[in-house]
Amino acid sequence: MGKTALVTGAASGIGRAAARLFALRGYDQVLCDHDEKGLRETEEELVNLRREHGESIGNATAVRVDVREEEEIREAVRIAMATYGRLDAAVNNAGISGERHPLHELPKSEFERVLSVNLTGVFLGMKHQIPEMLAAGVGSVVNVSSILGVVGYADAAAYTASKHAMIGLTRAAAVEYSSRGVRVNAVCPAFIRTPMLVRAGVLDDPEQLDFVESLHPIGRLGESDEVANAILWLAQEDSAFVTGHALMVDGGYTAR
Ligand code: NAI
Repeated sequence: MGKTALVTGAASGIGRAAARLFALRGYDQVLCDHDEKGLRETEEELVNLRREHGESIGNATAVRVDVREEEEIREAVRIAMATYGRLDAAVNNAGISGERHPLHELPKSEFERVLSVNLTGVFLGMKHQIPEMLAAGVGSVVNVSSILGVVGYADAAAYTASKHAMIGLTRAAAVEYSSRGVRVNAVCPAFIRTPMLVRAGVLDDPEQLDFVESLHPIGRLGESDEVANAILWLAQEDSAFVTGHALMVDGGYTAR
């Protein structure tokens, strides 16, 4: 039997890139997102990969999940177990950037909205993924945090707080579960060329793009595949001695 991964936020950007990479490595997958149209597009990409590469490409089951809803997360994990019989890797990647406001003008409702997806969503994911991994005695959770999990950024208090807290959650779980075969890590991307940045207007405005690129010593934005590669490494046995780690995938952003 092949390995199985569950990926949230699989309808777009980094999640879709991870889904593609896991499929190429033969993983069967449960792809979760609340964007059904985007999920179908990811599924189609995997079907095309299968046409191109044949049976070595893993199967995929798309499940509509709002990561804020515990029952929906629970059901996605149940589907993974019922369909593929195991859960080797879980990638908690679904996230939102939230509105940009100075902290003293940030509505409480917006603060809570961002935390409910980026933090509570990851907590709920881990809460239901980890028991299946513990039962098998092996598993790897990869949470997608951000450079804003370790440094601050103006007008992004909710996002920054959610991504910092997610690293805390990752470390706490690593301490709790690593002796029982379940590793828990985070990746921290810098600015990555995905629809999230398109919506933020960064890619369309040459001046803003220049500025954002200049924040990265490597001199450019990152690509989704570059983050997906880091996720895959943490998910697999190659990183067997790595747990509780927050891996920067940031072109040197936090090295300054
Ligand atoms: P994206 O916007 O392209 O993809 C995010 C996905 O999450 C979308 O498919 C969206 O439908 C899904 N999602 C949002 N809320 C959801 C919910 N409540 N339930 C289920 N699915 C939900 O963004 P991107 O860039 O691919 O982001 C993926 C992760 O990477 C996020 O956690 C983001 O914070 C993080 N990240 C992104 C960076 C960037 O520059 N693009 C930088 C650092 C971190």
